[in-house]
Amino acid sequence: MDGGRMHFSCVTAKGSAFDRKGFRPQFAYRDLGIVGSSGGRVDAYVMRALEPCRASFGLHRHNLDFELLFILKGRLDVYFEGVGTFATTAGAAICQPPMLAHDVVGWSEDLELLEIIAPSSFQTDSLRPGEAAPTGLVGAPRLSVVAGDEGAFAQDGLRAGFAYRDLGVKAAMGGRWLAHLLRATGPGTRPIGLHRHALDFQMVYLLRGWMRFYYEGHGEMTLGPGDCVHQPPGIAHDVLAWSEDLMLFELTTPGEFATEALTRP
Ligand SMILES: [Fe+2]
Ligand SMILES: [Fe+2]
Repeated sequence: MDGGRMHFSCVTAKGSAFDRKGFRPQFAYRDLGIVGSSGGRVDAYVMRALEPCRASFGLHRHNLDFELLFILKGRLDVYFEGVGTFATTAGAAICQPPMLAHDVVGWSEDLELLEIIAPSSFQTDSLRPGEAAPTGLVGAPRLSVVAGDEGAFAQDGLRAGFAYRDLGVKAAMGGRWLAHLLRATGPGTRPIGLHRHALDFQMVYLLRGWMRFYYEGHGEMTLGPGDCVHQPPGIAHDVLAWSEDLMLFELTTPGEFATEALTRP
């Protein structure tokens, strides 16, 4: 990845606000601090509807490397040229390939979604229907839509004590990215141990419950729903405890990476 220096960031739901500084005036945006801490490689924010859908956005496409929408609340209807329209609800994940023509054709007034894009700045073209040939429907990257109630949690991930629900991103992106949900299978009462990951990008967004982290150079912090951490490559960290009802969203690139156990000094 190119760009500036990457550093740790933690933006809490309490410490950040929804404002109107975003691409679409019908939505307010809560910045998750990732643009700055990833040196512009990635942007992540929560979008919240300010008004009901009165008209679609209009057919358009984005020239970027990666785009993921994860629905937190409410309903979002998206049309993809050559595919059709998907009505998505909480827990759904839409991984859009670059340059696929699409339109947002409906949403509920209570819609909230998490959007992650890479890189943080990119070009958007407005299109007329049929102007662009459908692209990104086969191979990788390709379109993936995983419904909110699709895909079970399975204990097939890195850590015992958690069940994982895949959001379809790894397959859609040819292994270059991974997005999944982690759910605690019980309360976390013992630290998992100091460790670090060999990867290019990693962010964690809490959906439910709480989790207590340690980050080298930043100390211990307890995060709750709506809080977001950027874990820069190689940072030593530990997970000290978590609630029984914990659920979190995690995104990494690449989709597979090595984890090294460390000893705490
Ligand atoms: Fe779009
Ligand atoms: Fe970790």
